[in-house]
Amino acid sequence: MKQLFDQDGATSAVAAVLDRSDRQAPSGRPWVMANMVASADGAYAISGVSRALSSPEDREIFHALRASADAILVAAGTARAERYRRPTAMAEFADQRRVFTPTPAPRLVVVSRSLRLAEDQPFLSGEGVEPLLLHPADADTSGVPAGVELRGLGSGGVDLQAAMRSLDADGVRIVLCEGGPTLLGQLHELDLIDELFLSLAPILASGTQVGILGGGTETIRQLSLHRVWEANGFLFLNYRRDRQGQPAS
Ligand SMILES: NC(=O)c1ccc[n+]([C@@H]2O[C@H](COP(=O)([O-])OP(=O)(O)OC[C@H]3O[C@@H](n4cnc5c(N)ncnc54)[C@H](OP(=O)(O)O)[C@@H]3O)[C@@H](O)[C@H]2O)c1
Repeated sequence: MKQLFDQDGATSAVAAVLDRSDRQAPSGRPWVMANMVASADGAYAISGVSRALSSPEDREIFHALRASADAILVAAGTARAERYRRPTAMAEFADQRRVFTPTPAPRLVVVSRSLRLAEDQPFLSGEGVEPLLLHPADADTSGVPAGVELRGLGSGGVDLQAAMRSLDADGVRIVLCEGGPTLLGQLHELDLIDELFLSLAPILASGTQVGILGGGTETIRQLSLHRVWEANGFLFLNYRRDRQGQPAS
């Protein structure tokens, strides 16, 4: 993978992504990274899933990000659509090109309002740490299948700021949010995204699943371009939230 910017930065995408040392969690909550892949016209899914937008290098970054995070935050819609499994510790990347230092697997944290989880959801069982299911405190949890720890936060919907405080109290320092757009849009509105990894596929897709933050209220926040890589026509954009001039949180 060729690094286009910042040339003075780390030499490999994986090494840069794995480096936790320059991700300083703000006081009281973890550092929040978001990772998404999109087509050149901004589509985030083709036929309801993201697979056709991805590439081997995108998956390399996807796995390296997972290896650098303490928790993976995902909305129930994505967990259902993409058949989420429990993350397991990765000693090496699937295509054997990159060898990662083994890490404890990050914990999967799923956010749901409806608590509509089919018993055959892959993340409800199998190898790996028991996932955490965040739900509104007033939700009826009696129908939730076994295999997850339940935690009620907020009323009507999960209070995402409280969720971050709660993860912080668990010792989580870096959260990787893998979407989907409905969840990411809320994190954006709350200014809870510190870093964005956006893989741009050389594809035009059209359709209605467009916009990695979903269709929320217009909310402008400044980013700074941190690094860019290119491989096989894909651009891998790494942004950081530009908080210059803001009081420290
Ligand atoms: N291109 C990519 O990188 C990428 C990444 C991720 C996902 N995707 C795609 O995105 C699509 C899904 O995205 P989406 O925007 O439709 O849905 P989503 O954000 O994945 O999930 C929405 C659901 O999450 C739960 N939720 C979100 N915010 C909540 C809150 N504050 N409190 C409680 N529950 C909350 C609710 O679950 P309940 O319905 O259980 O109440 C809600 O219906 C899929 O097609 C997936 O393949 C693409």
